[in-house]
Amino acid sequence: MAYRNLEIGNRGGVRTITVNRPDKLNALNRDTLNELTIAFTQAAQDDAVRAVVLAGAGEKAFVAGADIAEMHGYTSIQAQGFSRAGQHLMTTIERLDKPVVARIQGYALGGGLELAMACHLRVASDKAKFGQPEINLGLIPGFGGTQRLLRLVGRSATLELCLTGTPINAARAHALGLVNQVVAPDALDATVNALADQLAAAAPLAAAGILDAVLQGGEAGLDQGLEFETQGFALMFATQDMREGTSAFLEKRKAAFKGQ
Ligand code: COA
Repeated sequence: MAYRNLEIGNRGGVRTITVNRPDKLNALNRDTLNELTIAFTQAAQDDAVRAVVLAGAGEKAFVAGADIAEMHGYTSIQAQGFSRAGQHLMTTIERLDKPVVARIQGYALGGGLELAMACHLRVASDKAKFGQPEINLGLIPGFGGTQRLLRLVGRSATLELCLTGTPINAARAHALGLVNQVVAPDALDATVNALADQLAAAAPLAAAGILDAVLQGGEAGLDQGLEFETQGFALMFATQDMREGTSAFLEKRKAAFKGQ
């Protein structure tokens, strides 16, 4: 499918989805939300895709937020639809059964930080900036920011970011556990590619089981989460990949996983 606001690339088992509106710092308008939802749904359905990288075009921004120009004229009802569409996209990404890495080179603000938080792992340049500046527009986050930030960094930092609207730098984001790795700008692509390659080479059904146990089980109580884990663990024993992985270890060779 041809996208107006996205670029899609494939490298081995890694699909790269790039938000491509650099003149608007990759701001998320309704069209872009819809296209991203389609692109992630396609990535989910394509067995050749083992890991996804989500990026923003240009040097300045991953994504600088929801499109303020478009939101400016919204009624409450339109805003409700926009919020639901954004949340649906974020949930689609978070529930993907293959790992998604956000590549963050500049601003990740508002909807941009919400998009990054829906990804499973985040790698940032040391020039990146993170924030929930909606309060400066008389708004609150609408694509899951109050909830995912809370779960990732706790109440204190969430309230600080959302109530002040002041962006934080990559070092602080790393210290808070908001990003997994911070690297120099010229090392960003190599780091993201190496991580994505590693994720793409991993046993796909085990990756899906881990994502399910951590993300869905983690929202349940401990007993229910542990039961989720037991069910997932047991299911792996029905896979060829588990036989291959354990045989390869015992035979002192590298495993070749097929997702079966
Ligand atoms: N929505 C719509 N357009 C946006 C945007 C957004 N969230 N963020 C940036 N843009 C547009 C600007 O309007 C500008 O467009 P123009 O050239 O047609 O005027 C273009 O992207 C470049 O942005 P600009 O503000 O000129 O860049 P800057 O380097 O001076 O500032 C930011 C960068 C990120 C600090 C600034 O763009 C900003 O504060 N953006 C909004 C962030 C925000 O509040 N996000 C949450 C939205 S809910």
